Amino acid sequence: MKKNNKLIILILIFLLILSISFIIYTNVLKPSKNIEEKVNNQEPDKTETEKKEEKIELKENQTLTKKGYILEENDGVYSIDGIIITNKTYSIPQSYGNGLTKEFTEAFNKMQVAAKEDNIDIKIISGYRSYNTQVSTYNYWTSKYGKAEADKISARPGHSEHQLGLAADINSLYTSFKDTKEGIWLNNNAYKYGFILRYPESKTEETGYSFEPWHYRYVGTSLAEKLYNNGDWITLEDYYGITSKYE
Ligand code: DAL
Ligand code: ZN
Repeated sequence: MKKNNKLIILILIFLLILSISFIIYTNVLKPSKNIEEKVNNQEPDKTETEKKEEKIELKENQTLTKKGYILEENDGVYSIDGIIITNKTYSIPQSYGNGLTKEFTEAFNKMQVAAKEDNIDIKIISGYRSYNTQVSTYNYWTSKYGKAEADKISARPGHSEHQLGLAADINSLYTSFKDTKEGIWLNNNAYKYGFILRYPESKTEETGYSFEPWHYRYVGTSLAEKLYNNGDWITLEDYYGITSKYE
């Protein structure tokens, strides 16, 4: 009987040690599960931009766009990944540029030769415009249609891509250019030479401008191919997550 009592006590002590070990394991050694859950529960509240902001140390002249791209400003010139941006939101300095850039001209000449091989004639009707030329251009449209209408078709001085020397109006200023063989050829082929249709049809909300089937902007072949998007043009505004609105 005495021997049996001893055995029972030993079993009870063993069970007690086992219980204490279990309690210590679940409450002290394994609380990380709760912490993990808390961390995971917090993550969905953060936007992609906020998460990136935590990782990237932004310089004073840099901000993150809604889509997480770094937008930087140098001497009044805004750019993303080396692509200079000007639209209704982002201006360009008055003294900027002095003609169509070398990269624009080289790419355009190549495109013109390729077009000719397909029996298509393309020519620039308006290329680089200085700030002062843009003043005259914008004033012409405001006197013709009033400010509200002019703002849909012409950039205010300091906001035109023509001032960059990286954009041009080709062949025509009529919307019907879209259906001409030249307009169709450009729409289908310009991206191969680094050009984008900058103000596509039905994208006024994004670009701030009406459809301009004649206005092509040089961005380089890699970005142009992405924005061409097999013919369903993506705007710079949508791609980068930026606005185009006057203050
Ligand atoms: N027509 C375009 C928007 C410009 O004036 O630059
Ligand atoms: Zn234009």
